[in-house]
Amino acid sequence: MPHIDIRNVVKRFDTADGPVHAFGPATIAVERGEFVSLVGPSGCGKSTLLLMIAGLLAPSDGSISVDGRIVAGTRTDVGIMFQDNTLVPWRSVRRNIELQLELRGMDPRGSRARIDTLLETVGLHDFANRAPFELSGGMQQRAAFCQAMVHEPDTVLLDEPLGKLDAMTREKIRADLQRLWLQTRTTVLLVTHSIEEAVQLSSKVCIITPRPGRLDGVIDINLPWPRDITVKRSPEFAAYVSEIGDVFHRYGEI
Ligand SMILES: Nc1ncnc2c1ncn2[C@@H]1O[C@H](COP(=O)(O)OP(=O)(O)O)[C@@H](O)[C@H]1O
Ligand SMILES: [Mg+2]
Repeated sequence: MPHIDIRNVVKRFDTADGPVHAFGPATIAVERGEFVSLVGPSGCGKSTLLLMIAGLLAPSDGSISVDGRIVAGTRTDVGIMFQDNTLVPWRSVRRNIELQLELRGMDPRGSRARIDTLLETVGLHDFANRAPFELSGGMQQRAAFCQAMVHEPDTVLLDEPLGKLDAMTREKIRADLQRLWLQTRTTVLLVTHSIEEAVQLSSKVCIITPRPGRLDGVIDINLPWPRDITVKRSPEFAAYVSEIGDVFHRYGEI
């Protein structure tokens, strides 16, 4: 049984202009501890799928199960992170991270060491007591990442978390993200537009078709870990990037 079992899932939204077919049908199996990327063009339903996995939206058809149990409401055992962070401006970085515990009825005092370790891992330990506005965009996303991880979630859902950052910051945070995943082996689902990012970080890449998104194919990325700049220069890496790029070329997307 897959850890996350997305089976024949379809999502339609009722709008003033009639129903919008936003996603599916798609069947995707995610094993525990995998790093899975969802790559697909804008509007194909990637964010909608993540929200359904988090239990924040219900599928119109089909089902999503976690360890054999149908997701039927908001899950508190996931960590979620979006392109725009949800840091509250009146709390320090540390207090923002603690907020995720408070919202789940957990006592943040027991997690001080864990928060310190997370801050250390993403290079924010000197900024724990700063307010979000005192941080660069990249640092804010790093803080948001700590928020997504602090309650030791079963699954981390990342919706284009690096989309708005400059190229160099993106590279750095990708390395942090990879290091943290290799340490924890938490199940990660990453939505990204970047084929290179997907190949570098993932154990498996799901290719989603243009709207309404269906699963075109799944590619296992058999490259050694950790995947640093030297792996990215290898012919094997380039071959994966071309293989996925060719699919979107066939769809006329790139
Ligand atoms: N709440 C909503 N109401 C109506 N339509 C929506 C809603 N959310 C998303 N959609 C539509 O569903 C489709 C998929 O959206 P989304 O999941 O945001 O795509 P992606 O994240 O892949 O860019 C789009 O056509 C979008 O306009
Ligand atoms: Mg989206």
